[in-house]
Amino acid sequence: MKVIIAGSTGFVATELIHQALAHPKVTSIVVLGRREISLPPNAGAKLKSIICHDFENYSDSIKAELAEADACIWTIAVTPSKSKLVAWEEVCKISRDYAVTAIETISQLRHDRPTSGFRFIYISGVAAERDPSKKPLIMGDYCLMRGEAETRILKCAQESKGTVEACVAKPGLIEDSSKTGMLSKAVRSVGTAVLGLPKVDLQEISAALLDQVVNGFDKDTLENEDLVRIGQRSLRGMGK
Ligand SMILES: NC(=O)c1ccc[n+]([C@@H]2O[C@H](COP(=O)([O-])OP(=O)(O)OC[C@H]3O[C@@H](n4cnc5c(N)ncnc54)[C@H](OP(=O)(O)O)[C@@H]3O)[C@@H](O)[C@H]2O)c1
Repeated sequence: MKVIIAGSTGFVATELIHQALAHPKVTSIVVLGRREISLPPNAGAKLKSIICHDFENYSDSIKAELAEADACIWTIAVTPSKSKLVAWEEVCKISRDYAVTAIETISQLRHDRPTSGFRFIYISGVAAERDPSKKPLIMGDYCLMRGEAETRILKCAQESKGTVEACVAKPGLIEDSSKTGMLSKAVRSVGTAVLGLPKVDLQEISAALLDQVVNGFDKDTLENEDLVRIGQRSLRGMGK
């Protein structure tokens, strides 16, 4: 199957690319980003990197590259830690509007199988809130904006009469256990305990997301515990 990984340079996307290259059922990977990436040595003909300068209006040449994709994993966003460095309108555009435009546009490019389900996963976060009357105390505007993105993406699938399947992943803190040093691990453990955030390992969430686009969505919203469970099951299946 052909899978688009959007946000080619990011923390999660980098591991997704690594795992997708090794996945036997993923035959073609298009990585979409605003910058060039250094391709992994084993990328071969399976992976193509596409640079996009306008995520609100895809050019015909980019549409041609994205056409006939079976699934897309959307990792592009301004994360909470970087959101104060970017104008609020830009944060909303990048984290919400780009994803909504993507699901609407790419799902229309399946000319060979217009009626079969195009699978789209939007990575959001555990604190994103869909109900505007329940504004969280911490980063309230940001959490509501990400919640609105979740609602709009799921609505796009609901209105598609089965041609689009959407899923929202809501991880807590994503940790790369293979790289995190002892001190940093201890600091992050205290941080997550204080903030009450659940955690998921980078390998686990990546395996879970790939499992879901390849085999179909267990449900339309994957909470942190679902991502851990599916990811661990999938990694065990791969002998890891
Ligand atoms: N990391 C975590 O612990 C965590 C926890 C919960 C949820 N999440 C969610 O998981 C998703 C991925 O997170 P991550 O940690 O992988 O984030 P990341 O490392 O910051 O990656 C974000 C990606 O978005 C791209 N991006 C940002 N601004 C852009 C713009 N204006 N135009 C095009 N692309 C742009 C970045 O490209 P450039 O490299 O070109 O900037 C990068 O590829 C996000 O939705 C995040 O909120 C992450």
